[in-house]
Amino acid sequence: MAHIVAGVTTSHVPAIGAALDGGKAAEPYWAPVFAGYEASKAWIAALKPDVVILVYNDHASAFSLDMIPTFAIGCAAEFPPADEGWGPRPVPVVKGHPKLAWHIAQSVILDEFDLTIVNKMAVDHGLTVPLSLMFGQPDAWPCPVIPLAVNVVQYPPPTGARCYKLGQAIRRAVESYDEPLKVVIFGTGGMSHQLQGPRAGLINSVFDRAFLDALVADPANLALKPHIEYLREAGSEGIELVMWLVMRGALNAEVREVHRFYHVPASNTAVGHIILENAA
Ligand code: DHB
Ligand code: FE
Repeated sequence: MAHIVAGVTTSHVPAIGAALDGGKAAEPYWAPVFAGYEASKAWIAALKPDVVILVYNDHASAFSLDMIPTFAIGCAAEFPPADEGWGPRPVPVVKGHPKLAWHIAQSVILDEFDLTIVNKMAVDHGLTVPLSLMFGQPDAWPCPVIPLAVNVVQYPPPTGARCYKLGQAIRRAVESYDEPLKVVIFGTGGMSHQLQGPRAGLINSVFDRAFLDALVADPANLALKPHIEYLREAGSEGIELVMWLVMRGALNAEVREVHRFYHVPASNTAVGHIILENAA
């Protein structure tokens, strides 16, 4: 049986990828950001997951207004880095896990979550920046990655409650897979940020810190937070945080907090990062 052993949340700021790719990680602006992930890189290198399920959002790279799946699972053998306007990031191609991905699709869809099945997809900073933060700059990513894309770009995104329940369904799917795989699930995006309009640049550390606390200790209640509260308190792009609830739903009610990091700002965004292990 496969097991979800841990969950990771992290922001996905594209400028973090550009700083790494451009050799600027040691500069004074960026060094404190990357310092917050040193323990995380050591933790995941020691854990050696067999598979990562990476819950993220596409930013009109693979999808567009032509086609907007609410939830989409990548079942392909590989996913190339997307060209977001400056050429694809110089990071390894993401290798998928088609067998587990198809199993999850079948289990979750029969469990009444109608995922879109994607067999060809480029992956943008929403997926590659979290990989870079957790795995550094290797020649190949150390394990297969199953992309799970959530629409948080075009209204209406799914509710936090729906995301939380999807996480629970993903857990059931993984636990009904007949190979002893160690799986880590990432919930990415966030924290507070707004990239447009009169409130561009908004960051709300009080909201963010309360969100981190509730994610660990009171997720079922956090899942009830309505969209309007994310928009009002965390800015228009703060709605990315609903994706963290997919990760949290896939874990036990009781978890062990292994690591937490919060930093303001990186580009326009508050960076938040937590590692949770399923308490035995
Ligand atoms: C920024 C943050 C994002 O989440 C994103 O998708 C694009 C840009 C930023 O802070 O610059
Ligand atoms: Fe984003």
